[in-house]
Amino acid sequence: MPDFKTLLSERVKETERIIAEYLPVEEGHQKTILEAMNYSMNAGGKRLRPLLVMETCRLFGGDRKDAEPFMAAMEMIHTSSLIHDDLPCMDNDQYRRGKKSTWAKYGEDMGVLAGDALIVEAFAAASRAFEVTKHPYRVGEAFRILAEKTGIYGMIGGQVVDVELTNQPIPKDKLDFIYRLKTGALLEASMLIGAVLAGAGQQECAKISQIALNVGLAFQIQDDILDVTSSQEVLGKPVGSDEKNCKTTYVTLEGIEKAREEVKRLSDEALSILHSLDVKNEFLEQLIIMLITREK
Ligand code: IPE
Ligand code: IPE
Ligand code: MG
Ligand code: MG
Ligand code: MG
Repeated sequence: MPDFKTLLSERVKETERIIAEYLPVEEGHQKTILEAMNYSMNAGGKRLRPLLVMETCRLFGGDRKDAEPFMAAMEMIHTSSLIHDDLPCMDNDQYRRGKKSTWAKYGEDMGVLAGDALIVEAFAAASRAFEVTKHPYRVGEAFRILAEKTGIYGMIGGQVVDVELTNQPIPKDKLDFIYRLKTGALLEASMLIGAVLAGAGQQECAKISQIALNVGLAFQIQDDILDVTSSQEVLGKPVGSDEKNCKTTYVTLEGIEKAREEVKRLSDEALSILHSLDVKNEFLEQLIIMLITREK
């Protein structure tokens, strides 16, 4: 078996080929927004969420054809969250994925609209799973998860509390709530959708949710750490964004060392739940480890 890095780069390329099939053709009077959508979708990024859809589906022996539309959908929703997160009215950041952020390149109006459009196109992309699946009920359930984890009880709900509490101290339990929703929810959706499409049972899905929420929390804490310790060259987005916006983070609340320990604790817990399942996917395990120990 090839080593993890080789396999990862192959699977990222494969993911990008799949995503490309769902992107709009840049023509018509509304061409500007189509360009803005493709600009942000093609800017790069780690493609973690579609990889998690595919690998969790593989873990439970599912049909990858069912997963592909949801891989594109997850990356569209995630990208829309980044486009909106960077807007002047939110984090006011000018760089993303090594390029000008969407609003900085196309204007604030197009930034808002391109983000909106990607959310809607995500559901259009996901609906193509109905054309190929032998399990329409599972696809319906995956739709419900996609909507719930994107919306007011998911990523958007988390972003609301995040921006509302900017400039003020936040107690730890509220910060956990924000992280679970703004970041955890889309990671949870990715893994749960992969599991549901593959026909995983209720108990298995409950474990997958637990794993993904732990990973989500650890992932956001690591993002906070990198915002302090890394550089724009490595991250492709500005560092010091949290300080600029007077955000309470795990780092401001607990210090870097404790934040690092928390990342380790959460990831160990995620891996031990993963090991308690009867099924195995070594690549998924490695992916989770990478996601938490990442430097960008
Ligand atoms: C950035 O997500 C936003 C957070 C939830 C911390 P990623 O770090 O996955 O961003 P890309 O997709 O690689 O650009
Ligand atoms: C945002 O958290 C999570 C999203 C839902 C986009 P951050 O604001 O810390 O994400 P980055 O650091 O800008 O990627
Ligand atoms: Mg933000
Ligand atoms: Mg931000
Ligand atoms: Mg950040």
